[in-house]
This record gives sequence, structure tokens and C-alpha cells, in this order.
Amino acid sequence: MFVTSVSLAAVDSETCEASKLLYNHLCAPLSELDMQMVQSIPEGGNWKDIPPSIVQKSARLIQIHKSGGRTTYYGRLNKDLPSYTINTYFNRPGNGTFIHPEQNRLISLREAARLQSFPDHFRFLGSLSSRYKQIGNAVPPLLARAVASILKSGRVIDLFSGAGGLSEGFQQAGNEIILASDCNSNMCKTFAHNHPNSAVIKADLHHDKHANQLLEAIENTLSGRTLNSLIGGPPCQGFSTAGNRDTYDSRNNLVFQMLDFVRVLMPDTVVIENVPGLKWIQHGKILGIILKTLEEMGYSVCKLHLRAEEYGVPQRRRRIFIIGSRYALTEEFPVGYFAPIIHGRKKNMVNQSCDNLFPPVNVRDAVSDLPQISSGSGDDLVEYDWCWIKTDYQRLMRDSMTLEDFIIKRTK
Ligand SMILES: C[S@@+](CC[C@H](N)C(=O)[O-])C[C@H]1O[C@@H](n2cnc3c(N)ncnc32)[C@H](O)[C@@H]1O
Repeated sequence: MFVTSVSLAAVDSETCEASKLLYNHLCAPLSELDMQMVQSIPEGGNWKDIPPSIVQKSARLIQIHKSGGRTTYYGRLNKDLPSYTINTYFNRPGNGTFIHPEQNRLISLREAARLQSFPDHFRFLGSLSSRYKQIGNAVPPLLARAVASILKSGRVIDLFSGAGGLSEGFQQAGNEIILASDCNSNMCKTFAHNHPNSAVIKADLHHDKHANQLLEAIENTLSGRTLNSLIGGPPCQGFSTAGNRDTYDSRNNLVFQMLDFVRVLMPDTVVIENVPGLKWIQHGKILGIILKTLEEMGYSVCKLHLRAEEYGVPQRRRRIFIIGSRYALTEEFPVGYFAPIIHGRKKNMVNQSCDNLFPPVNVRDAVSDLPQISSGSGDDLVEYDWCWIKTDYQRLMRDSMTLEDFIIKRTK
């Protein structure tokens, strides 16, 4: 595989029409048996609600009943709460809580994107299976924006950029994403479409040759200018609690590849995003090496463990951000506005210790305007009728309200 530059996406004629359009509102089909299960699960319910007559038809359900399974499996979303974590499997009911709260179907790509806080103008391209990965793997833009808010804005390069959730948040916070890179063509295609002014370089950073070519492209793009931030979410399968936590997973090495880029480029700040499982791998040794390496390069380092719902994301998602900075940060932690969910599926389990905070954005706020579709259907492109809008979060997603106004109104 060679490093190839993805041509800047032509700003197609649709872009100016984007305010009238709704992209990616289509959902995966359900098998007949899955549909029977889905029909038996109430809002906020899960596999425990499926009657024995249906359980006995499924080897997986029989197994889950025997050995116990996560209460998120075969989950149906609760309208009054943020969703559970949107992973890359929201095309399957058995791998998380991805059933629409009211309709007998899985959530659509757009509904998942809304739960991830991607604005509606952000369009996901490529194969369907890739688009599940693009959305499920992304950093929620509003979470990324919160992190960016404690850093000085400027020129940014995003490594392992995926579809561009992290970049979207940094851009919203006033940064200019000058270059992004990923090894996957579909990811690059989506990134380029949504960031027409950024250079997008396809490169597999397992290969030194690609890494060197990418460095050359970066130096050309910078042409002597300072790099303000190098940001990136190196693949985390080896670190994720959902994966098999293989310490020697070669994908883990990519985080060290990112540190090599830091050593050469010496940006003002470095932001490395990952799953909280990174903290436990090899009893914290990997994380310790990352922090020490950054310190040895002259960075002041801090580690943020953030809960997405505190920053307006209608989803429970925990991520860590390692920040290395050459200047003193004015704030060491982004201010959260909404109460975190500590545990539980019930409304009254929203953390009561945060009396001064407002309830987090919930699934109803996020998706109640989107048109009804049936299982396995929907459209990649439909016209959005502005009279559908019901909530300020939907206004925020449709670019008709700023985040500042949204927070002021929501926290009055
Ligand atoms: C967790 S995702 C990043 C998500 C992204 N930060 C976002 O917010 O949308 C990790 C990305 O690393 C890419 N990746 C995996 N192996 C890679 C490699 N060897 N070289 C470059 N990119 C790689 C994947 O294609 C994937 O898009």
C-alpha cells in the first residue's frame, strides 16, 4: 500500500443545499428472529425481556441466559436518558443498546451520528459497513470541542483521523485542520468530503516508508510554519475493555508511532485520545511510558478522563485524553455543564451528587425529529422539513443554534 493524497473534495452542488437535506438516515435490516426479539423488548429494556419461547430459538440468547450477559445487549434505547456507548456494531441488536426507542428497528446511521453529536451537515461516505465503523469509532465532536477549548487554537494535524470526529470538534473550537491521515480509503473519503480545505493523506503507519512519506507531506504542508497541535486517536482495540485486551496487539504500537511524529514535528500541544482501558494495560505501564516520553520531550503532561454526556453529547461514553503542552494551560479541565450518568438505566439514577448541574441531553432531544422509517430501510438523502424540529439540540445539530446559545438556554 502506498501513501496517496486524496484529492480535495469538490464542494459539490449539494453543499449549499445542505440546510434542506438530511443525510444517512437509513438502518440495517433485522432477521425474522431478531425482529421477534426486538418486538418483545420495551423501551429501556434488554435481553432479559425476551420471552422464553423466543430465547429457545437462539443459541446466543440461551448462552447469555446461562452465563449472564451485559444488560446493554439487545437493549432498546430509553428516550429520557443519553444512549449507551455507540460502538461500531449498531447494525446488530445483540451487541449493544441500538434499538430505536419507539420503532421496531435499529437506529439509523444519522441517529447514531446525532447520538455522537455529529452535526447534520456531516455526511458519511463509503460502504455501509465502513460507515458503521466511521461513526462508532469517532470521538464525539462536542467532546473533542470541549478538550480543544482548554488549548490555544491554531493549525492542527490529525493522525489516525478516521471520519473526523476529533477534527470536527477541534474545528468547531476555532482550529484549522491543515492535514489528516488514515490508512483506510473510506475514512479518508469521508474526511475529505467534510473538510474540503484539509489535505488528506492515506498512509499505513505500520510501514516506515509510509510514515516517512507522510512526514514529508506534513513538512510540505507546513512549509516552515509552526504546528500548533498534533492530535490523534491511535487504534485502541488492544486497549479496549470490549476487545480482547491483547497487550501485544500490534495496533498498540501505533501510539508509539504517534510519539515519533511528535519528536520530529515538536508541536505546541499534543492530544492523544484513547479508551479508558489504556490506563490498565500492563498495569499502567504503557500509559506511564507515553507520559514519560512526552515529559522527556519537554511537554507538561496531563491526563483527562472525560464523560461525554457532561459536554452535551446525548451518550454515555468515557474516553481519556493525554495532553502534552509546551505552554501553561489556562484551565486544566474542560468545564462540564450537564450531570454525568454514574450507572443504571433509570432516570432517577442520574447522578444526584451533581445538584448544580442540569440533566444531560437525552435520546428524545437528539432524534425525535427524524422521520419514521421501517427496519432495513431509509434513505441516504432526503429533504429535511424544518417544521420537524422539536428541541434545541436538534437546532444545534442543524446549525441553526450556536453551542453557546444552546448551553445558555439549556442551563437556564
Ligand atoms: C479510533 S479510530 C479514530 C477515530 C477518529 N479520531 C475520529 O474521531 O473520528 C482509529 C483510526 O486509525 C486508523 N488506523 C488503523 N490502523 C492504522 C494504521 N496502521 N495506519 C494508519 N491508520 C490506521 C483506522 O482506520 C481508524 O480510522
